Amino acid sequence: MKFSLLFLWLFMSLSNASDANSLLFHGNCTTCHFETKSVSAPSMMEVRKRYLSAFPQKKDFVKQMAQWVQQPNETTSIMQDAINKYELMPNLAFEKDVLEDIASYIYETDFK
Ligand code: HEC
Repeated sequence: MKFSLLFLWLFMSLSNASDANSLLFHGNCTTCHFETKSVSAPSMMEVRKRYLSAFPQKKDFVKQMAQWVQQPNETTSIMQDAINKYELMPNLAFEKDVLEDIASYIYETDFK
């Protein structure tokens, strides 16, 4: 019984790309970036807002965010104030494709 519920949950979670991307985001980013609260890193709501104003088109937003997160760098940061406050985000050696899926999920999600 428990087993089939787990299976159903997994199936429902992964049967659609945006749910799979949500799992990737929650599994990899929310230990530091809470959705709406800034604690040890700026909230994802804040990061999204900054990225949206710098890169309003989805294509640019996804490309820039995936590129930056793959190689966090002070000179290419658009959030210098966050670096001063929390220090530069560590390089976590994520795969580029995974980052593109996550960035696409962030673009589409109105955190609140
Ligand atoms: C170990 C903690 C940690 C994890 C995990 C983490 N981040 Fe960060 N991130 C930070 C901190 C701290 C900052 C603020 C300083 C900075 O901008 O470098 C930051 C900043 C950012 C920025 C702002 C970039 C800029 O222009 O400065 C983006 C975008 C970002 N994170 C995306 C992500 C995504 C996407 C994930 C998951 C794949 C993630 N982060 C996982 C700690 C983390």
